[in-house]
Parts: sequence; structure tokens; C-alpha cells
Amino acid sequence: MSFVVAIDGPAGVGKGTIAKRVADDLGLITIDTGATYRCLTVAVIDRGIKLDETDKIIELSKEIKIDMTLEEKETKIYLNGRDVTKRIREDDVNNFVSPVSTIREVREEMVRLQRKLAEGKNVIMEGRDIGTVVFPDATVKIFLDASLKERAERRYNQNQETGIDKDLSYEEVYESIKARDYNDRNKPVGALKQADDAILVDTTGKTIEENIKQVEKIIKTRVNL
Ligand code: DC
Repeated sequence: MSFVVAIDGPAGVGKGTIAKRVADDLGLITIDTGATYRCLTVAVIDRGIKLDETDKIIELSKEIKIDMTLEEKETKIYLNGRDVTKRIREDDVNNFVSPVSTIREVREEMVRLQRKLAEGKNVIMEGRDIGTVVFPDATVKIFLDASLKERAERRYNQNQETGIDKDLSYEEVYESIKARDYNDRNKPVGALKQADDAILVDTTGKTIEENIKQVEKIIKTRVNL
């Protein structure tokens, strides 16, 4: 029988990096649910739709085709057949994605898609509402957290390494994460929240290797791999 490991947590906590490494080590597939909201946001920007044109955004969420494929150990994200793996991480998308993801009908559509992507597979699914909404019966639920300061530092360093948004100052990254935190935690639906039965992993002051080890240990106590 297939199982789901749900990993939730705020922006910049390292969910993506940790989920990817753990999945590689344990032979699981990762599904980055933030990428589905980001793809829709790219489509919204491309069509010149404004954030208050809610009906148009909802309509678009039903029309677009999102695919995730594993190519040479890298997950590539496709929007209507176009590779948007890098595009979805750019700053204009960062700034629009949170409001786009607050629309209830958009969330319903994206949750449907996320469940479909996991069907019949052993997956690590990461996002904000996986343990609470998408898979409330997930086999393992982990909530990753870290201080805002540390998350901003990690994201800034990651930008410098990947070259994406390299020109943003540390202060700009800090403010952007702070704003997203506020939006993510105060959404009327699908808000960022630790599920009652999720295990909290505070990553503040820990190395990435320590965090990966701890997450793997939790998973191994719950599922036979
Ligand atoms: O994890 P991320 O930074 O790629 O997520 C991008 C945005 O999508 C984030 O601002 C909140 C939203 N999101 C969400 O509402 N629910 C999820 N399960 C994942 C992401």
C-alpha cells in the first residue's frame, strides 16, 4: 500500500531541500505543492490578469496543465508543456503567489491536482496544508520551523548560489519572507498551521545534515522501508 509523508512549514525553512535529499536517500518521490500555485501565478502574469480578477484566475486554474517529471534526478516543472522550473522561482512570482493561493476555488483545484499527482505512489509531499487539508490521513506528518531571521539568511544564500534573484539584498529577502509568512498564516482557507498530530522539527541553529537525519529517523519509525 502506498503512503504519504507530509512536510509542512513556512517559506524559506528548507522544506524543498530537505524533502529532496530525504526522498533520494529513501527512494521516494517528492511533490512540491508550492510549485502548483507558482505555475498558476506564472500563467496569471503571462495573461496580464490582475490579482483582483478572481473569476479569471479561477477559470485559468481549471484550464492550465501542470506536469512534474524527474529528469536526471532533477524535478522539472512544466506549465502547458513549457519548462518553467526556473521561472516559477523569480521575484514577481514570489510576490504574487500568496494572494493567488488565497482564493478558495483555486485551492480546491490545486488540492485535487496534488492528490492526483500522489496517486498510487510513495511520496513526500511538501507545502503548507498537506497534513491538515491535502492528506489529513498521511502516514507521517512533519512540521518544519525556523526563526524568520535564519530563514531569510538561508534564502539569501540560496539565491546567491543559484543566481535566481541574485540582486536582491538580504533586507529585501527578509521583508519578502515576512510578508509571505503573514499571508500564509492568515489565509481563510489552507492557512499554514501545524496539524495536531504532526511532529515539530525546529531547524533553527541546525545544519542541513542534522535536519535531514532527524526527518529520516522520524519517517523510519513510522514506515517500513
Ligand atoms: O513553498 P513555496 O514558497 O514554493 O510556496 C509558494 C506559495 O504557495 C506560498 O506563498 C504559499 C502557497 N502554498 C500554499 O498556499 N499551499 C501549499 N500547500 C503550498 C504553497
